[in-house]
Amino acid sequence: MTRKMHGDALLFFSLLVLSDAMPSGKVGVNYGLLGNNLPSAGQSIESLRAMKAGSVKLYDANPEILRLLAGTDIRVSIMVPNYEIISIATNQTSANKWVEDNVLAYHPETMIRTILVGNEVLSYCSDEGKRIWNHLVLAMRRIKISLRAQDIRNIKVGTPLAMDVLQTAFPPSTGIFRSDISTTVMVPLLKFLNSTKSFFFIDVYPYFPWSANPININLDFALFQSNIKYTDPGSGLVYTNLLDQMLDSLVFAMAKLGFHSIRLSIAETGWPNAGDIGETGASIYNAATYNRNLVTKMTGRPQIGTPARPGLFIPAFIFSLYDENQKTGPGTERHWGLLHPNGTSIYQIDLTGKRASSDYEPLPATQNDMPYEGKSWCVAAPDVNLTELERALNFACSKGNGTCEALTPGKECYEPLSVIWHASFAFSSYWAKFRSQGANCYFNGLAVQTTRNPSRGLCQFPSVTI
Ligand SMILES: *[C@@H]1O[C@H](CO)[C@@H](O)[C@H](O)[C@H]1NC(C)=O
Ligand SMILES: *[C@@H]1O[C@H](CO)[C@@H](O)[C@H](O)[C@H]1NC(C)=O
Ligand SMILES: *[C@@H]1O[C@H](CO)[C@@H](O)[C@H](O)[C@H]1NC(C)=O
Ligand SMILES: *[C@@H]1O[C@H](CO)[C@@H](O)[C@H](O)[C@H]1NC(C)=O
Ligand SMILES: *[C@@H]1O[C@H](CO)[C@@H](O)[C@H](O)[C@H]1NC(C)=O
Repeated sequence: MTRKMHGDALLFFSLLVLSDAMPSGKVGVNYGLLGNNLPSAGQSIESLRAMKAGSVKLYDANPEILRLLAGTDIRVSIMVPNYEIISIATNQTSANKWVEDNVLAYHPETMIRTILVGNEVLSYCSDEGKRIWNHLVLAMRRIKISLRAQDIRNIKVGTPLAMDVLQTAFPPSTGIFRSDISTTVMVPLLKFLNSTKSFFFIDVYPYFPWSANPININLDFALFQSNIKYTDPGSGLVYTNLLDQMLDSLVFAMAKLGFHSIRLSIAETGWPNAGDIGETGASIYNAATYNRNLVTKMTGRPQIGTPARPGLFIPAFIFSLYDENQKTGPGTERHWGLLHPNGTSIYQIDLTGKRASSDYEPLPATQNDMPYEGKSWCVAAPDVNLTELERALNFACSKGNGTCEALTPGKECYEPLSVIWHASFAFSSYWAKFRSQGANCYFNGLAVQTTRNPSRGLCQFPSVTI
């Protein structure tokens, strides 16, 4: 089928697929471990059970977690790390050994149902990254061969990709894969997924296109609660939310390569519950709204599906179980969690979709749905370790370009001679100078943003305009 895909044709393909045995209808959770303050594996599994997660997705094959999941009814997705792909692709013995060590050791007591080979492999465009692209499908085939040799037939093999595999995503009917991967990687990948009846696993975040363009995209359209109806001029299909548009752009991209019935699975989705000043819309209110409405959509009976594939079940994993404080980048990166690192919930959520929205306690109002415009400074966070703060101060000042010139004896910011004052100036100065090169106001949690000008007297703190 070429550019235009008619609703009936798609519905027909969807019905074909519906007859397949379907996995659990509950929503799953990604269990990331990039925090130095997270509860034990045992406590985490208790939390997953308490929130009635249908499945859990790991970013490796952590032996302790896999052992503790034995005997539970939680389905498990494990991952082959990117750096093991080439050795597995080139050596069946390596593949067999990986399956022995990470699957056979726990299966079937632990309900491993998915092996994901790599994580967003096609988003890494370095030479080494591209070498992995060329081995991706080979590695997936070898893992599948190992499973078959062990007569294991209830584990799917897939690979989670990011939306950047698409060259065009909007309107959905124009969806097309990037030309650098289309024939070399996507065609063999889709052939593999189609012939093994696996899923196209996608990390899909309406938050990103919305937050990049919050003026032109309606927030409620991203949060599944607008009355907007958008008609795709190419397909005539009508969209009521951003997630459906993003998912269908993949459906159309696959169709253009001749694959009409590979099922989608959402490997990651979610909404940040907090972020930096200027990270529009990152709030508990919006995160709870997005994830609750997502669960309602994904657990609806009959299944809702998307406009291109009505009625089709889409397994989904929310990102993420915890706020993870060791993730780098902007503040939102560390605030995707359903739970605080101490295990308490950031907001209530029922992953079975049975709880009515009126049964939840009221949420704190959101303050940052419109882009913030103004100045911001970066200062020492309250109650931090002074030894570490001094180390961060020295780091910021070592970057040169006059970052800390005003802090030298006799200069305007030298007094008061305190680590907190000096660090606050140095953080603001460093951030203002190097933000355009990707510097953040974070310093491992030692720094926070403020919109209150910390300058005193002659000492003027450099600011960043957001
Ligand atoms: C294949 O992998 C196995 C186990 O990891 C290793 O012992 C063997 O040397 C490898 N073979 C080749 C040709 O690299
Ligand atoms: C996908 O798989 C189905 C069923 O196995 C098969 O009939 C179809 O030809 C495959 N499609 C492609 C494009 O290979
Ligand atoms: C858990 O952590 C959150 C965020 O730091 C805090 O607000 C809450 O009071 C903590 N709860 C408990 C029981 O420690
Ligand atoms: C502060 O950090 C240093 C270096 O990381 C560490 O050795 C020290 O124990 C910490 N002090 C306190 C009070 O936590
Ligand atoms: C730092 O200083 C060098 C040399 O003066 C200059 O080339 C560079 O652009 C400066 N970088 C920033 C971020 O100001």
